[in-house]
Order: sequence, then structure tokens, then C-alpha cells
Amino acid sequence: MKNINRYKNISYKINHSELSLRSLKVEDTSEKYLGWMNDIEIVKFTEQKNKKHNFQDIKNYVDEKQSSKFDLLFGIFHNSDHIGNIKLGPINFNHKISEISFFIGEKKYMNKGIMTKVIKYLINFSFKKLSLEKITAGCYSNNLGSKKVLLKCGFTIEGKRRRHVIYEKKRIDTLIFGILKK
Ligand SMILES: CC(C)(COP(=O)(O)OP(=O)(O)OC[C@H]1O[C@@H](n2cnc3c(N)ncnc32)[C@H](O)[C@@H]1OP(=O)(O)O)[C@@H](O)C(=O)NCCC(=O)NCCS
Repeated sequence: MKNINRYKNISYKINHSELSLRSLKVEDTSEKYLGWMNDIEIVKFTEQKNKKHNFQDIKNYVDEKQSSKFDLLFGIFHNSDHIGNIKLGPINFNHKISEISFFIGEKKYMNKGIMTKVIKYLINFSFKKLSLEKITAGCYSNNLGSKKVLLKCGFTIEGKRRRHVIYEKKRIDTLIFGILKK
């Protein structure tokens, strides 16, 4: 098992752009971040939609991921502006696989190609630095944004879970994606 703590103190600049990733610390939690978690437009395709979040919830979540041996929770920063998150985890070192999950909270940064760049960067990081061999992701079948981004990043749809979640009172499918180290 790799010790991932060393990756929690580094800021990773993405392709010389204004974008960077760094592991979130409790000090990074803010009213803005809390606002994203309670904004139905941001969380409607995630399990977060079923809950009203308070400041302590997000602090606890960030704290838990910061001390986890199996998760890297990165904030996505545009210069110094926190605009969203991407999580690699839980990492399974036995099978050399991990799940990713992500969102952009600041609406003005959506549809600008940011998540495509961020996911590609994190996949490369996972394969090269952490020696993982496969990354998986999932989304609701009606989450066209996430589906398109994952396909653009080279993921393959590996399966469909039929009528797996409830979205606006209807049962809908979820999709399972995977990408292998070449
Ligand atoms: C969905 C999301 C992750 C996409 O990230 P992004 O940085 O906006 O995506 P990109 O700009 O890299 O877009 C990649 C492609 O997806 C398309 N796309 C992005 N959002 C879309 C949407 N809501 N509906 C349809 N297509 C969308 C883009 O137009 C682009 O297509 P193109 O290459 O043909 O131009 C981001 O907008 C987001 O976090 N949204 C809200 C929360 C959410 O749904 N999170 C995911 C939960 S699993």
C-alpha cells in the first residue's frame, strides 16, 4: 500500500494553465462551498441532493478525507479561486483501482473544458504516481454533462444499472464507466 499523505501537501498546476489541484483542508471550507452543496442545480445528479448540509458537515467531510489513507480530495482552483472538487477514492491498492467523483460549483466556470482537463490530469497522476491500473466513475444516465466529459476523457461505458436511483420521483438508470492504463 502506498502512503498517499505526501500528495496532500502539494499544489498541482494543470498544463501551465490558471488551473490547479490541491488537497482540501478544513481551512478551505467556506460559505461558497456550503452554498454549492445546498444548490440543487449543482447536486441534483448526486446523492448530496437528499440532504440539507451545514458548515459542520462539510468541515467533517473534508477532515475525514484529509486523514483518510484511501482518499485524495482535491479542490479545483482557478488561480486562487476554489471552483469545484474532484475526489480520487476510495483507492483499492490490492486491485490498483479507484473511483473518481467530481463537480464544478461555480457556474461561470462550467462548459469551459475545465473538468475534461482536470479528469485527464488526475487519471495520468493516478497511473503514474500511484501506479493504479484502472479508474472507474459513475453517473445518473440523464447527467449528460458528466457522461460527455467521461467519454471525452477516454472512459468506456462498462455497464448500466437499471432503474437504480430515484430522480424527480422517477426510477432511472445509472451508468458505470472505466478507463484502463494503456
Ligand atoms: C457536468 C460537469 C462535471 C461538466 O464539467 P465541465 O467542465 O462543465 O465540462 P467540459 O466543459 O469539460 O465539457 C465537456 C463536454 O461536455 C459538454 N457538457 C458539459 N456540461 C453539459 C451539460 N450539462 N449537458 C450537456 N453537455 C454538457 C460540453 O459542452 C462539452 O462538450 P463539447 O466537448 O462537445 O463542447 C460540470 O458542469 C458540473 O459539475 N456540473 C454540475 C454538477 C454535476 O453534475 N456533477 C457530476 C455528478 S456525477
